[in-house]
Amino acid sequence: MPKIIDGKALALEIQNKLAKEITNQKLTPSLAVLLVGNDPASKIYIELKKTACHQVGIEFHEYCLAEETGNEKVLEVISFLNNDDDIDAILVQLPLPEHLDTNQIIQAIDPAKDVDGFHPENIQKFLNNQTDFVPGLPLGIIKLLESTGEKLENLTAIIIAKNEILYQPLAKLLQDKKIKTQVFKPEDKNIKNKCQKSDILISACGQPFFITTDMVKDKVIVIDVGTNKVGDYVVGDVDYSGVFEKAGHITPVPGGVGPMTVAMLLCNTVKLSRVKNKIKSTP
Ligand code: GUN
Repeated sequence: MPKIIDGKALALEIQNKLAKEITNQKLTPSLAVLLVGNDPASKIYIELKKTACHQVGIEFHEYCLAEETGNEKVLEVISFLNNDDDIDAILVQLPLPEHLDTNQIIQAIDPAKDVDGFHPENIQKFLNNQTDFVPGLPLGIIKLLESTGEKLENLTAIIIAKNEILYQPLAKLLQDKKIKTQVFKPEDKNIKNKCQKSDILISACGQPFFITTDMVKDKVIVIDVGTNKVGDYVVGDVDYSGVFEKAGHITPVPGGVGPMTVAMLLCNTVKLSRVKNKIKSTP
């Protein structure tokens, strides 16, 4: 298997399969995306999601609100989308402007339309094995790990993250695969030592060049979730050129986790649409 884990190619393969399924079964899935403000990275992500939706045949509805929009107005839009029968799935693009209450806004999404799986009710159901709906980002990471062809069972993994919404479901999925997983915050003083002992290293700390060559084990599998703007470039959390030499497998940025997250978003939109419209999936 090649050293570079090609998320873009894998995402394309998944999207092509999904497009066929949508056409053959005459599905009409629809996704609403809500953006508040002018964050340039968010705008780029939304464009990527829109293009991918159009390519596979998912209706894409974009709601853009001004930076200064208040909490009540955002909640009003969500309530409108919750009640709109033509909308199967809702995504609120994060991060929201600081004056907004992100938790309250996520909790206002109808759990049946929560395509990210971020609603606390959905997170609890997932952690308690009460649903087969898997949040997109962690699911994409698992598929990237599987694509290496390596035997993952009994390996050790470290997740470096600040955000519970990401690491809780991801840690569960890894543990379900019998991968011994530990989560650390980037500021933990034992981080270097812990990284050096891990067979799998997943970084989502949002700090460019945080993971350096001296921190990783020989033949490590590296999944870089970071998307950090440095000058005109987007880079991950990993000092790629150095770590590449030592790694067994590594995701590039861009072209690794990002496209897979989009592909999983599309799959989950179709999944919610099937449930809402009571359409069985075919094997
Ligand atoms: N911002 C960056 N990635 C994501 C994502 O997967 N979902 C949402 N809602 N916002 C994001």
